Amino acid sequence: MSAPGYARRVAGFGTTIFAEINNLSLQHGAVNLGQGRPDFDGPQEVVEAAINALRSGNCNQYAPGRGIPQLMEGIAQHAAVFYDLEVDPENGVLVTPGATEAIFCSIMGLIDPGDEVIVIEPFYDSYVPGIEMAGATPIYVSLHPPDWVFEPDELRAAFSDRTRAIMNNTPKNPTGRVFTRAELQLIADLCLKHDVIVIAAEVYEPLLFDNARHVPIASLPGMFERTVTVGSAGKTFGMTGWKIGWVYGPPDLITGAWRSIQFTSFATNHPAQVGVAHGFAMGSSYYEEYQALYHGKRALMMDVLAGAGMKSILPQGTYFVMADFSDLFDGDDVAFTQHMITEIGVSCIPPSVFFTPEHRHITKDHVRFTFCKNDDTLLQAAERMRKLRG
Ligand SMILES: Cc1ncc(COP(=O)(O)O)c(C=O)c1O
Repeated sequence: MSAPGYARRVAGFGTTIFAEINNLSLQHGAVNLGQGRPDFDGPQEVVEAAINALRSGNCNQYAPGRGIPQLMEGIAQHAAVFYDLEVDPENGVLVTPGATEAIFCSIMGLIDPGDEVIVIEPFYDSYVPGIEMAGATPIYVSLHPPDWVFEPDELRAAFSDRTRAIMNNTPKNPTGRVFTRAELQLIADLCLKHDVIVIAAEVYEPLLFDNARHVPIASLPGMFERTVTVGSAGKTFGMTGWKIGWVYGPPDLITGAWRSIQFTSFATNHPAQVGVAHGFAMGSSYYEEYQALYHGKRALMMDVLAGAGMKSILPQGTYFVMADFSDLFDGDDVAFTQHMITEIGVSCIPPSVFFTPEHRHITKDHVRFTFCKNDDTLLQAAERMRKLRG
């Protein structure tokens, strides 16, 4: 007799940290600097383009399964203009309901049961459930504070003849670091040596500061053929609610992802794709303004943390910063997050959830804050967090 309940493949998953923190924040009226969810709107002309698409009467039915041609063209053009990558817009691009789905269908379409997949931690929290649902085994390589770099020998040791893929994310959530060309080259060399593919989540590629440069791992010699690169309109155009993402790469790998997504979502929101296609047509001044906006917010966030007495390293990219609270609080990151929400009234994320349980101690003194918020929200957080100094 089978009892009602969950399938074994999802039984261990629980609730995502973002849902948990959002609920707790609401309950306690906390200023929410937890989830990377802007509290201001994206570009109005992108919104207008989607509204026009809705009203046109031509976009309220299924979009073509792989995406609408003008968006696929925009994605390929972006890769060509910014990174000199030659992407086939017709067969080398797949539009998906968000980057999370792009990652999931890439895993499902490219990884077999019994394969090993290297995961650099802290990791985006969808990677491991995806790998497990594919019947594969995650192999962890940790980044170490304070600079959040990997030990080359630990990375080398993670590769074996069972390794099929590595999940790579740069600019890195939650550490705010941008991997250097040398770091990426080491990953690439190991992938080439062991015949491993890369699922490259580069969703924060437009969010860079100072002299940081984003190097797509697909642009390194010999790597395009073995890399699928994931992007997100939630990050590039600040429209997280639209859930438009994409993956591009060599047509044979993209076809694997496509075969999987055909039977999960089949096609992606049509009018929102028209809006995002318009976003790609806005030109490079958009990205300059976007970076300038976040440059100011990063400075404000650093002031918030300094005012609260926390130590942190200036992020090179993304809208996240890791802050060390060990001078202020006796307890781990989960206890501090609880304290922050219930006593201080500001939410953050305990990054230990982005590590495998055996490695959670690595980040026990840090929490992640996001600065994708109105300046007023950040100032309100600053006011509340001054209490932390006692
Ligand atoms: C590394 C990384 N990948 C993927 C995503 C998800 O993007 P989307 O909202 O488009 O699914 C995020 C969002 O926080 C992320 O940080």
